[in-house]
Amino acid sequence: MSQKKILLREDEMPTQWQNIVPDIPGGMQPPLDPETKQPAGPEKLSQVFPMGLLEQEMSGERWIDIPEEILEIYKIWRPTPLVRADNLEKALGTKAKIYFKYEGASPVGSHKPNSAVAQAYYNKREGIKRLATETGAGQWGSSLAFATHKFGIECKVYMVRVSFDQKPYRKAMMHTYGAQVVPSPSPDTAFGRSVLEKMPDTPGSLGISISEALEDAATRDDTKYALGSVLNHVIHHQTIVGLEAKKQMEKAGDYPDVVIGCCGGGSNFAGIAVPFIIDKLEGKNVRFVGVEPASCPTMTKGKITYDFGDVAQMTPLLPMYTLGHDFIPPGIHAGGLRYHGMSPIISALIRDKIIEPISVRQLECFEAGVLFSQTEGIIPAPESCHAVRAAIIEATRDLNEPKTILFNLSGHGLLDLASYESYFNGELENYDYPAEAVEESMKHLPQI
Ligand SMILES: Cc1ncc(COP(=O)(O)O)c(C=O)c1O
Repeated sequence: MSQKKILLREDEMPTQWQNIVPDIPGGMQPPLDPETKQPAGPEKLSQVFPMGLLEQEMSGERWIDIPEEILEIYKIWRPTPLVRADNLEKALGTKAKIYFKYEGASPVGSHKPNSAVAQAYYNKREGIKRLATETGAGQWGSSLAFATHKFGIECKVYMVRVSFDQKPYRKAMMHTYGAQVVPSPSPDTAFGRSVLEKMPDTPGSLGISISEALEDAATRDDTKYALGSVLNHVIHHQTIVGLEAKKQMEKAGDYPDVVIGCCGGGSNFAGIAVPFIIDKLEGKNVRFVGVEPASCPTMTKGKITYDFGDVAQMTPLLPMYTLGHDFIPPGIHAGGLRYHGMSPIISALIRDKIIEPISVRQLECFEAGVLFSQTEGIIPAPESCHAVRAAIIEATRDLNEPKTILFNLSGHGLLDLASYESYFNGELENYDYPAEAVEESMKHLPQI
């Protein structure tokens, strides 16, 4: 009988994060200061981030030690299981082997605490008393609420309004961990008030919420800002997922032919993929598929260029795939995938033809999520359904091909059941690529 769950002992948990930046074949361009168009140095960024994280952001070291205090908190849920989805394989009638790394095992139900705990730790070490952040689906906000409470830091979360309304229990979870949560755009910031005046009914977007959280941090001495994806240091923190998965695949006596993850800002996909990408660069034959929603097609329909990470143009300019910083995506139920940009690391790896991006539509993702729930038992988060869908596409392209598929099940959907209900009630629709909205937003790209 083959092993269903491949587990690691706590003493087998990796003690370093991996940094792929020095190995990206075409190299990476630096973030730019929007005023001078020169590389943005740590002086500018240290207004909103602690130095410990900025050092990681700019680091050229291949390995970064994980501090003991962080490992102790990781132990609450890490190492997470690697699971063979043999019931799904049978239902599909495929000869492919499908494995998933289950990041829904964390206290909040996703991969996001891997970075939240690290970010809270480095802020605490530098005496920061309060953090401000944005959240889309609520997974990141819950993670930072949990992590800040562990380190005795206050937390304020600007939650994209459509998710605030769709996911009331995420709000309750953040309150339980002691954080303050407001729907964004909110009247609490000058930028939020200006958006509300122009668009009182806007569903909000991650770009708007990031602007509000940044303004909050920039206008208070006791507060810094935390971002749940996109930036290099977040990607490094998430590599613990792939480093564990690699050990687990070894225990299973297997190696993936393809590694899959859904992409919002890119952190869970990069997290599982980076350690295997390093193998590819050393000659292994393995493919990487990043999956995004057709309604917010940053990687497949966007352009790689310098753009702001937020609507109010407060961030440095990042070299990334983007749909334009003021693009407001349709209110799809995978709130964590509604972002106009993509991590510069993932963007560079797409440019270098190491990662293949694909887009899938909302209804086929829920269909995949339902099949996964009924076969493997775990109800995936709507974001993670995108990875499930891509794994099914890979496994069924040729049912007789005995390939090995590894995907990141980035979170469970137990607080997203209202979305599943809407799907069953026929209330969800496929939003087509909003070509005109993207074209309009692309007109506002900064000129470099
Ligand atoms: C469960 C889950 N998966 C994936 C994502 C997408 O983010 P990222 O691309 O940074 O992993 C989110 C974001 O909120 C999420 O909650």
